[in-house]
Amino acid sequence: MEGSTLVPAYDVFREGVRASLPEIDEISDPELRDKVEGAWAMALAETEFASIDEVRPSGNPDTPAMKSGTQADHLRGVTRMAVALADSLETVVPGLGVNRDILLACGLCHDLGKPFEFSPANQTRWRQDPAVSGFPALRHPVYGAHIAITIGLPEAVCHAAAGHSGEGELVVRSLENTIVHHADHAYWRILASAGKLET
Ligand SMILES: [Fe+2]
Repeated sequence: MEGSTLVPAYDVFREGVRASLPEIDEISDPELRDKVEGAWAMALAETEFASIDEVRPSGNPDTPAMKSGTQADHLRGVTRMAVALADSLETVVPGLGVNRDILLACGLCHDLGKPFEFSPANQTRWRQDPAVSGFPALRHPVYGAHIAITIGLPEAVCHAAAGHSGEGELVVRSLENTIVHHADHAYWRILASAGKLET
């Protein structure tokens, strides 16, 4: 059949996602690699963004943005920090039991919902009348969990998308999500301290 219906429309974004997030290659399970890439491709396809690098490089739409670098650099930084935390702690506290593939996927996917929440079109629409569907209608952890579940990412990764931020205060975070949560928080605090964020 002309124009394969087997390839989702969002697959055109896959190549760019892989270029933005080279850490995907560090995931050993090919199916997990494919789903991480596909999840970000889907997240972009539902917005006006063509690349993760086009999303405002901040923790929330209204918090200070990075002076240089992109949202992809945030994902990469958090992922690398999470792995470094796990590896460093493991040298003095052996047997932590961290699943490396899951940790990598949690780090790379924790902000899957940002294209939706940060979308200027969505922000404008929500701001016009918050009485209609709220402001924002869904924060990025909730929408990120929707993407992760839709793509069929492991439950542990869906959990990190949903619970890496304030929403995670209502649940018991997994080991990998606990590491990502602290790496994410530390990322923004360290950049602020270093004068790397807009004021
Ligand atoms: Fe983050």
